[in-house]
Amino acid sequence: MNIVVLAGGISTEREISIVSGTKVCEALREKGHRAILLDVFFGNTGLQADCAFTEAYDVNAAAAYMRSFDSKLEEAVKTQKEFFGPMVLELCKAADVVFLALHGENGENGKVQAAFDLLGITYTGSGYLGSALAMDKGISKQLFLENGVPTPKSVMLKKAEGMKQPETIGICLPCVVKTCCGGSSVGVYIANTREEYEQAVKNAFHYEDEIIIETYVKGREFSIGVVDGEAYPIIEIAPIQGFYDYKNKYEAGSTIETCPAELAADLTKKMQDYAVMAYHVLRLENYARVDFLMDESNNMYCLEANTLPGMTPTSLLPQEAGALGMSFADLCEKLIEVSLKK
Ligand SMILES: Nc1ncnc2c1ncn2[C@@H]1O[C@H](COP(=O)(O)OP(=O)(O)O)[C@@H](O)[C@H]1O
Ligand SMILES: [Mg+2]
Repeated sequence: MNIVVLAGGISTEREISIVSGTKVCEALREKGHRAILLDVFFGNTGLQADCAFTEAYDVNAAAAYMRSFDSKLEEAVKTQKEFFGPMVLELCKAADVVFLALHGENGENGKVQAAFDLLGITYTGSGYLGSALAMDKGISKQLFLENGVPTPKSVMLKKAEGMKQPETIGICLPCVVKTCCGGSSVGVYIANTREEYEQAVKNAFHYEDEIIIETYVKGREFSIGVVDGEAYPIIEIAPIQGFYDYKNKYEAGSTIETCPAELAADLTKKMQDYAVMAYHVLRLENYARVDFLMDESNNMYCLEANTLPGMTPTSLLPQEAGALGMSFADLCEKLIEVSLKK
């Protein structure tokens, strides 16, 4: 197949997306596909739609080309009005399918998906509605509550309403302060004291105008891939220090990841069922990864669903596929296969 692996962009997760995209592109080429790596925002003026998909291709050179724009990002965001860079839509239209290796706001929030629907471009992962619902943790949690998916108690705060103390909104310390639409734990703070809480609220409002104050759940953390409506083996995530913040997510060796998680069969089944419920409640399609916490009494809480989770060979979903005997390249192909069914 002729495949565009779309990555990069302008979110805080640009670099992670470039890594995911590079690995996915390599894997798909290994499988014999003519896959090319493309920056959604910077595009590539050197590529023509009729001859871009070739047998010989240097994925690393394409990744280096994307990174050559890193230093120009801030300036380009100010001057470039259109989100899709040069040749991006032409190449995506010419491809059999676009593998979305984007992470973070534009890319994961449904806007790219909506545009592609209107342009007749086939892509991997959820559609625009599910992507948008899952991107907003406030809305996701309301849907979880209404549909029997347990989630930590929380309250939404708006910047215009100013500072509110936790006890006035029915939340006890310690609590978690997080932006509604963030990712990669950017804008997530655990507040143990009133001082930490006030600082966290200020910091979170620096990123977004709507934030969530959530009850802190002490216990173990898990994540579950759902592919084509089916739950994959659960992975347990245990950071050696602190919580699963940006550093612990991306610094090798900082988090112990165990897959399949050491959980009793009944608890495994229960959490997998909740993951599939969350996937349906949020109108997700093709694949997603759902995050959970479990307290000392085995109460489970769904935190969020990630519609375009990390896709390097050591990312969580690929590890879960590995536990099923599926290689990284097999998983990349599988995600395309399920997405083409729609
Ligand atoms: N209510 C909570 N109690 C305890 N830890 C939490 C809670 N909410 C989030 N965390 C920690 O913060 C991390 C990031 O939070 P999450 O809501 O998943 O946001 P993100 O979209 O940035 O991944 C989680 O993986 C977990 O380690
Ligand atoms: Mg998360």
